[in-house]
Amino acid sequence: MAPNLEPFFKQVDDLSESFIDRLRKAVAIPSVSASEEHRKDVFRMGQFLASELEALGAEVHQRPLGKQPGKEHLDLPPVVIARYGNDPNKRTILVYGHYDVQPALKEDGWATDPFQLTIDDKGRMFGRGSTDDKGPVLGWLNVIEAHKKAGVEFPVNLLCCFEGMEEYGSEGLDDFIESEAKNFFKDADAVCISDNYWLGTEKPCLTYGLRGCSYYSITVSGPGQDLHSGVFGGSAHEPMTDLITIMSKLVDEQGNIKIPGLMDLVAPLTEEEEKLYPSISYSMKDLHDSLGSETSIHPTKERTLMARWRYPSLSLHGIEGAFSAPGAKTVIPAKVIGKFSIRTVPNMELDAVNKLVFDYIHSEFAKLKTKNKLEVKLLHEGKWWVASPKHWNFSAARKAVKQVFGVEPDMTREGGSIPVTLTFEKATGKNVLLLPMGSSTDAAHSINEKLDRRNYIEGIKLLGAYLHYVAEEPQTE
Ligand code: BES
Ligand code: MN
Ligand code: MN
Repeated sequence: MAPNLEPFFKQVDDLSESFIDRLRKAVAIPSVSASEEHRKDVFRMGQFLASELEALGAEVHQRPLGKQPGKEHLDLPPVVIARYGNDPNKRTILVYGHYDVQPALKEDGWATDPFQLTIDDKGRMFGRGSTDDKGPVLGWLNVIEAHKKAGVEFPVNLLCCFEGMEEYGSEGLDDFIESEAKNFFKDADAVCISDNYWLGTEKPCLTYGLRGCSYYSITVSGPGQDLHSGVFGGSAHEPMTDLITIMSKLVDEQGNIKIPGLMDLVAPLTEEEEKLYPSISYSMKDLHDSLGSETSIHPTKERTLMARWRYPSLSLHGIEGAFSAPGAKTVIPAKVIGKFSIRTVPNMELDAVNKLVFDYIHSEFAKLKTKNKLEVKLLHEGKWWVASPKHWNFSAARKAVKQVFGVEPDMTREGGSIPVTLTFEKATGKNVLLLPMGSSTDAAHSINEKLDRRNYIEGIKLLGAYLHYVAEEPQTE
């Protein structure tokens, strides 16, 4: 029996302008977790969420996480936790999201002010955090509001866990979740995270896997200060030359990781798994559309999806201290810090990965016979996660997709990482589902990030419908 969702859906439509307003207010707070100057804005964003939740009648707490490791003058932003409803006869769903965002500057090439929600005639709502992850987080608040205003009984008890450091590796959150699993989160029957994207633009998906992310820095230093290349070029070992040589040995142009032994840690592809890929609705065109170019490595969608979901990748991100301004400065930087990360997959043990990475870089550096100094650091790590999509949590979400969008969702894994997903699963012992709102063309982390109006509004219906189906789904595990 399908729950009667009509009054709720209608209320969502009626409130859509005010829901967009709520997103506008949230986007206007530049809660960039990676930058010190914006830390106060991250706090402001946590406060905004807490006030909104309180106004909706939830019990809300802002829980401190202490100082930021390595930057002790900075306080970590609070985890905003909330409870809405406390009926022992209802299931309890724990939802997670993040209220911090990636950095964004108009000069990076944004067509509009990144912190001012701008809606075009196609209903595309541009703004940093619109899809990652403010739209989805506000989605849960909007679901509460629509129920209240429609006078529809809320189908479950809702627990919220919204953090402000996700884009920085979820500093401090693992310990928090582990300790609250037996306290604030103890009633949770399942977990739902809305912080990923559809594979394309038409068909929703349910996601049961993520890659992990291990992030490293390589510091090479030597000279006491930056040098004039006319005076010292050719007579001193240059840190940047050493660093570039090392970085060029990590990955090749076809995306192959060059660290010996690393691929041996990857779970082999079984015939059964291989059969899952052809039926996924995804095309090379979808890839090229979201890529903004045709610079794909693999010829088929199957190989592309495997490269994204089930094989590791290594990306080079940047070099701190390198001369990067316009113009032609003849400087030799005295100290440079290269940054790269590895997306990890089953069955890679993170300690084993780290050992291979450290040993390889040190041995390659030794071969350079440079007198410069090397330091390799692990900046943060989060483990990969793969869940069972056979749980009632997933079947409820599948019904909700069917109800709101009229199609069966694709079952997907993802290449991105949400470091605490596995922590939630282990600490609560409950099933975790990823239920995305945005689409593949949303450009999370890029310039002109957006969320389509349709994805936001129908996404709110989806989250609400999911809670209704959760309430009546029979026990499976
Ligand atoms: N929402 C993403 C995670 C994601 C990305 C899921 C792509 C599915 C597809 C999240 O906000 C994110 O960006 N995570 C970081 C984590 C990192 C800092 C450890 C990521 O994946 O780079
Ligand atoms: Mn996110
Ligand atoms: Mn992100």
